[in-house]
Amino acid sequence: MAEQSKLSLGGKDYDYPIIKGSVGPDVIDIRKLYGQTGAFTFDPGFTSTAACESALTYIDGDEGVLLHRGYPIGQLAEQSSFMEVSYLLLNGELPSGRELEEFSRTISRHTMLHEQLMSFYSGFRRDAHPMAIMCGVVGALSAFYHDSTDIADPKHRKISSHRLIAKMPTIAAAAYKYSVGQPFMYPDNRLSYTGNFLRMTFGVPAEDYEVIPEIERAMDRIFILHADHEQNASTSTVRLAGSSGANPFACIAAGIACLWGPAHGGANEAALNMLREIGTPDRIPHYIERAKDKNDPFRLMGFGHRVYKNYDPRATVMQKTVREVFDAMKVSDPVFETALRLEEIALHDPYFVEKKLFPNVDFYSGIILSAIGFPTTMFTVLFALARTVGWVAQWNEMISDPNQKIGRPRQLYTGPTERDYVPIGKR
Ligand code: CMC
Repeated sequence: MAEQSKLSLGGKDYDYPIIKGSVGPDVIDIRKLYGQTGAFTFDPGFTSTAACESALTYIDGDEGVLLHRGYPIGQLAEQSSFMEVSYLLLNGELPSGRELEEFSRTISRHTMLHEQLMSFYSGFRRDAHPMAIMCGVVGALSAFYHDSTDIADPKHRKISSHRLIAKMPTIAAAAYKYSVGQPFMYPDNRLSYTGNFLRMTFGVPAEDYEVIPEIERAMDRIFILHADHEQNASTSTVRLAGSSGANPFACIAAGIACLWGPAHGGANEAALNMLREIGTPDRIPHYIERAKDKNDPFRLMGFGHRVYKNYDPRATVMQKTVREVFDAMKVSDPVFETALRLEEIALHDPYFVEKKLFPNVDFYSGIILSAIGFPTTMFTVLFALARTVGWVAQWNEMISDPNQKIGRPRQLYTGPTERDYVPIGKR
């Protein structure tokens, strides 16, 4: 019999089974709690609540560990490719050479958008935030691909997943092209997934575009680092939206909307803006003081994480990639020196040490993306592009889970109790 945990409530004792994962904290199975006791648990922000069972990604925030299907993120970022990691997340195992080739070919076959979909872009203002365009256009995919929306059919789910992964670079690049007033570039399937995206973003029809291998590699690594991150806010949004049986494209659009927030994917944009505002290392102490001031809403963007309380392992790879990109592009950016100095100062400051606040993935990513040529508004778009594989893998896992139910949190009601309606003339 499973180990039990005991709860005493209203003078009665209840037993709840403890479930063990393959690694990580045990969970107390409280599914019968309400039925047996009439009480709910209260956990705003889900800080202590496991909302699902998953075999995709494991994070140990205290040790700074991130594993995809068991493989450490550092090894994947150094030795693998985004296509390979995508296959791994979707299928559970690393592909053989033949499987990877076949998977990459399948994805490349889905890179084009329905021509009618391209006309959606002209409905947006030229100065629209590309994340607003992403929400709209990805949601609109649900109006185009009717042949594969039976979510109970694994083949349909697979086609929708491949379409989403394949079309996201085309959609993201078009959002950028629209904002700068340049013509959309069609995909060139002779290029890699990442090379294709770079060409669609920075190429123009008037000239040949040469993909710089070091930049392609750095971009691919950024995609790997953002591919999945367990049950974060946007992934939970995708799962919650999908739990009602909603259209997969609409679910991913919901994930994009959630990712856009500055506390989540929007932090890379906010982090670079903050570093630029700080400007020079001599101004850092002023911003450190502001971050510590309870009466000042300012926070060090790119610092802190709900789960990592040691170091975000993705930030380590990012910091290294900054130098590689600078070398390949033969550029430098004083903001990098400011970032390194800020990290050093913050990591020795008792406030940040005690609260276990460390640089997260977003602290350095903006510096790299800016050096490659992306405007800050595109940063979260790139995050969404890469996270799409995580979202669809999690969505697929949820739909295939026999214990899956529509997500329906409960609440602690603190509003007025029942009272009689007062006609307007008597108020
Ligand atoms: N600067 C200054 N103080 C901070 C910061 C920060 N960046 N982050 C947290 N704190 C303080 C916060 O004020 C609180 O202090 P106190 O206990 O005295 O009230 C304490 O640390 C705990 O903060 P919290 O907001 O309760 O922690 P959380 O787990 O709810 O929030 C977070 C995590 C990432 C939202 C938060 O650290 C933050 O706002 N960071 C800046 C935004 C950011 O970089 N976000 C990117 C996250 S990584 C990308 C991703 O995976 O999506």
